[in-house]
Amino acid sequence: MDDPTLLNVERLSVRFPSDRGPVEVVHGISFAMGAEKLGLVGESGSGKSMTARALIGLVAKPGRVTADRLTLDGADLAALSPRQWKHWRGSKIGLVLQDPKFALDPVMSIGRQVEEPLKLHTNATKAERRERALTMLEAVGLPDPLRAYHSYPHQLSGGMGQRVMLAATLIAEPRLLIADEPTSALDRDLRDQVLDLMLKLVDERQMGLILISHDLDQVARFCDRALVMYRGDIVDRLPAAELANSEHPYTKTLWACRPSPETFGTLLPTLDRVRMEAGA
Ligand SMILES: Nc1ncnc2c1ncn2[C@@H]1O[C@H](COP(=O)(O)OP(=O)(O)OP(=O)(O)O)[C@@H](O)[C@H]1O
Ligand SMILES: [Mg+2]
Repeated sequence: MDDPTLLNVERLSVRFPSDRGPVEVVHGISFAMGAEKLGLVGESGSGKSMTARALIGLVAKPGRVTADRLTLDGADLAALSPRQWKHWRGSKIGLVLQDPKFALDPVMSIGRQVEEPLKLHTNATKAERRERALTMLEAVGLPDPLRAYHSYPHQLSGGMGQRVMLAATLIAEPRLLIADEPTSALDRDLRDQVLDLMLKLVDERQMGLILISHDLDQVARFCDRALVMYRGDIVDRLPAAELANSEHPYTKTLWACRPSPETFGTLLPTLDRVRMEAGA
């Protein structure tokens, strides 16, 4: 049984209109989670990002989200107005994306961007905001927080930018963090560092984490459980450490297809769609 204490999702669907009628890209998926680390895997286009966007109220029109139930900490997300969503995003749910370049404002100093959620969601004074931003910049491992506070996004490397994103996302202490390919733009060495840091912060704050990743090894190592998506459905759910041993044909193929230092540059097995669609 899933632990439903943090997030409860029942029959969540995302549809887009098209010339040939509505196209459903997420097909009534259900899952629940507590303050745990949940990995979301699946091939490109399987609906992982759409699921994440639906959970954070960011499916752009004309996309339509429906759910029998969508609750976070007991509150009904489906009933939130756009204005209320603005408050929930940032204060209750945070989202970290792949590339900080697109998420950070190039003309706003790092300090102001990290403080912004406190300005929006709390009554903290200017001095308090600055203090908390500096503490947060230190917590995400920036060697010179004061210098980072006064710098601008283009002055940071990709790894540093991702740490700043984490600082800006976690400063308002959300209950749930959704990270969509948070490390795939980084070099291999940096990936584990940034992920280690993210998990440490999530653990310390007893938050829930949904980690969307193409890197099955990463999910197996860092997450508690995994959900496997295929064409808008959750087709397999299992302890993350068991990803290598799943009986499900799709999960087996995903695992076999994962690039590794050994297989890099060699021909990989292709996903066995015929068997999948036959329900094998
Ligand atoms: N604005 C849109 N209108 C219609 N269909 C869309 C739109 N945005 C995405 N889709 C479709 O929704 C499906 C799911 O996309 P999604 O971005 O969630 O995949 P994903 O699993 O995150 O893939 P990736 O691993 O490449 O990031 C895809 O088939 C995509 O083509
Ligand atoms: Mg995606």
